Amino acid sequence: MNTTTTTGKLTNGHRLVLLPLPFQGHLNPMLQLANILHSKGFSITILHTRFNSPNPTNYPHFTFLPIPDTAGEPNPLISDVGMVIRFLHYINISFVDPIRGCLERLMSEDDGVACLITDAQWFGIQSVADELKLPRIVHRTSNISSFLFFAAYSRLTDTGCFGSFSDEETKSKSLAKGLEPLNHQDLSKFLTSDPESACKVIELMVEGTKRARAVIWNTFKELEEGELEALSQDFPNPHFLIGPFHKYFPASSSSLLAQDQTSISWLDKHPPKSVLYVSFGSIVKLEKSEFLEIAWGLANSKQPFLWVVRPGSIGGSEWLEPLPDEFLERIVEGRGYIVKWAPQQDVLAHRATGGFWTHNGWNSTLESICEGVPMICSPAFGDQLPNARYVSDVWKIGVELQNGFEREEIESAIKRVMVNAEGLEFRNKITNLKWKVNRCLEKGGSSYSSLEDLVSYILSF
Ligand code: UDX
Repeated sequence: MNTTTTTGKLTNGHRLVLLPLPFQGHLNPMLQLANILHSKGFSITILHTRFNSPNPTNYPHFTFLPIPDTAGEPNPLISDVGMVIRFLHYINISFVDPIRGCLERLMSEDDGVACLITDAQWFGIQSVADELKLPRIVHRTSNISSFLFFAAYSRLTDTGCFGSFSDEETKSKSLAKGLEPLNHQDLSKFLTSDPESACKVIELMVEGTKRARAVIWNTFKELEEGELEALSQDFPNPHFLIGPFHKYFPASSSSLLAQDQTSISWLDKHPPKSVLYVSFGSIVKLEKSEFLEIAWGLANSKQPFLWVVRPGSIGGSEWLEPLPDEFLERIVEGRGYIVKWAPQQDVLAHRATGGFWTHNGWNSTLESICEGVPMICSPAFGDQLPNARYVSDVWKIGVELQNGFEREEIESAIKRVMVNAEGLEFRNKITNLKWKVNRCLEKGGSSYSSLEDLVSYILSF
């Protein structure tokens, strides 16, 4: 039944409760999804932690509800991935009761709750949903390819694939069938400093996803058709591929850091496709030595660059202190620009941007695909490793640095993407994907239709 609110907005009388994970790469897609579902007539309540809470003034059309009794929640110092993993364990135990309380209260109100949509990393909430007989849909913020990798994780552990990575032959050998694009070297990086906790989080996330009613993916069918087929064999729940979320509306306002808009005026002064954009997302941390290799790789490439250096992301420094004066005066003044945080979607869409050196967080990778910008890949952990492998070896829309951060290899990779004929091939392939993105969002396109199906599915509860 459709009703009209005082603001004149048509609603279908169904309230959805969305529970995001409080990290930038998870908040962005969840709030974008909330906007998409709101545009379909659902009323939206965002249940959130106090830590990294979204700014309600940017979303006056939603109701925001902080999870109560969690004032003592730890600040996980999110620059360290080990801490993120411990934080995930913590919230999935300590926040369960307060979340149950909130859901019970919302369900008892006149509006009720049609459905709960949580980030896949809120795996502890499935039992609450079962108890309350509330349908839970999982929103997986990354893609299907990397999920398949996570899902195979325990199987691979059993078959001893996580043994020694020291011998060169083993390192480059492919993994089990179905995971061919990945290799042992990817796995060695994947484990992080706390492999046991990381394994457990993955196992619980995969299990929680299997038990959910359905899964919403921020990806599109044309990109991962084979992977979707493979996924459906072990995960028979309905899958809704309705991405890329950020293309439904103008650039979102869920950034936790202020975006430096001078990035755009600086780009305005440059010729088309001439600038390399460099950013490693909201969590990756670098050693000082790696930071300097990046700086000299950029300098030696002689290409213009826009570089995001997040404050606190370089070990032992507040911001740019490790950079020698010579670099700042001669190189940056000449052809570089460094900011603390950029309006990334606008930067990637800018005509002057010709390449993206990224850590391959899924949002960054997808945003790059949507704008047809070829990539240089420096994955650090988790889904970034399979994402990078797909960019370089499967979709062939970029190159991956093989030796971490090493100035000669960086210089050569920048030239491959920005200058050489090879770069043109990457650009042609990624432009082709960009057109597919545009088509999938049009009426009758795969994501458009999947969104229609999702709306009907929720309304059927
Ligand atoms: C984290 C994980 O690291 C990533 O692997 C996972 O896929 C999602 O969660 P993060 O590292 O922050 O995310 O990377 P990413 O997924 O790329 O998300 C970063 C978001 O911040 C993007 O939406 C990007 O547009 C935005 N961003 C980044 C800015 O707005 N400005 C910047 O300067 C840099």
